[in-house]
Amino acid sequence: MESPPTAVGRTANIAVIAGDGIGREVTAEALNVLRAIEQRFGLSLHLEPLPWSADYYLQTGVTLPPDGFNLLRQFDAVLIGALGDPRVPDNRHARDILLGTRFELDLYVNYRPIRLLDERLCPLKGRTPDDVRFTVFRENTEGLYVSIGGRFKAGTEDEVAIQEEINTWKGVHRIIRHAFEFAKARGLSRVCMADKSNAMTAGHALWQRVFHEMAPAYPGIAATHYYIDALAMYMVLDPGQFEVIVTNNLFGDIVTDLGAALQGGLGMAASGNLHPGRTSMFEPVHGSAPTFAGKNVANPIGAIASAALMLETLGMTAEAAAIDGAVLAAVRENQVTQDIGGTLGTREAGDAIVRGITHA
Ligand code: NAD
Ligand code: IPM
Ligand code: MN
Repeated sequence: MESPPTAVGRTANIAVIAGDGIGREVTAEALNVLRAIEQRFGLSLHLEPLPWSADYYLQTGVTLPPDGFNLLRQFDAVLIGALGDPRVPDNRHARDILLGTRFELDLYVNYRPIRLLDERLCPLKGRTPDDVRFTVFRENTEGLYVSIGGRFKAGTEDEVAIQEEINTWKGVHRIIRHAFEFAKARGLSRVCMADKSNAMTAGHALWQRVFHEMAPAYPGIAATHYYIDALAMYMVLDPGQFEVIVTNNLFGDIVTDLGAALQGGLGMAASGNLHPGRTSMFEPVHGSAPTFAGKNVANPIGAIASAALMLETLGMTAEAAAIDGAVLAAVRENQVTQDIGGTLGTREAGDAIVRGITHA
């Protein structure tokens, strides 16, 4: 990796934004797991709840305080549940808090590992955990997410809506470099870049150029390319060919929901939003699933596995492995929620993982 993770030894200060809907329920389980880890490994984790959410916005009129991002920078890491609420139809608070954190903290690496934990969770016929084990690196600070554009004559039949895509050499270079460095550090031999350079002949030509200029610096790694539409097809037909995928912001968003489906659904998928060496943010891939909220049905594994990614990034690798081990055991024993074939509620599924940590 380009620089060491924020090494904090046996302590860490973590900001927790549980957010909205099922975000609150799954985050509560992730915090229980972190407290169990703290006990078992003798760590000292300071978990500081921040109230930023749709409720907070509707009550105060502000999405986050003016010094909010400076506050986040004082923590070693940030853990988020999910943001999104039908009472805020323009999604303003989610944009400010979630996308704001990615942009303001310059978290340019969206790290989304795709791991099938048990064959029975995969919707594809005959696929095993060996076939679904790869990592997507999604560019996280530019692309179509930069909110440059606008609407002219909005609401009329003459409306013109412009939403610009930004690709910079610096932005493309640093995410592709991260993907190659990750592959090298883990002894992997394949990096696949996906773009749409056959249609987006300006912006994605830059991805082509950077990828092909960088690949020779990694002679042990096969650098391959698919157009994003073909990538989506191969993720379904032959996911076993992938080790590392690198792509832009929007394409990465889309294919990581597809990746989540290969793992057993959105409830299983974890992510990190990283700027190596700086305060990073961790969150499940799923959203606030408003229709599931408050029903004790959401799968907490995506949030719990995100907490494990956080500990791994903070250098607490044995602790992260203990969480992953307890999650795997709970899945194998079917001590899980209904979305992946169990009978438990969110809290009970979280408790099963906590027991796996405490009684290991
Ligand atoms: P969603 O991920 O919230 O839910 C889509 C579907 O996935 C659900 O109906 C459910 O079937 C399944 N699902 C998701 N999480 C699950 C879990 N933990 N356990 C079991 N099943 C689960 O996506 P959506 O419905 O498109 O969006 C709802 C809201 O969340 C929107 O406001 C959206 O903008 C927001 N959102 C936020 C984030 C985030 O905070 N990172 C991510 C995605 C969507
Ligand atoms: C994700 C989400 C967000 C994104 C939304 C909520 C803006 O879908 O983290 O995958 O598109 O990045
Ligand atoms: Mn998404």
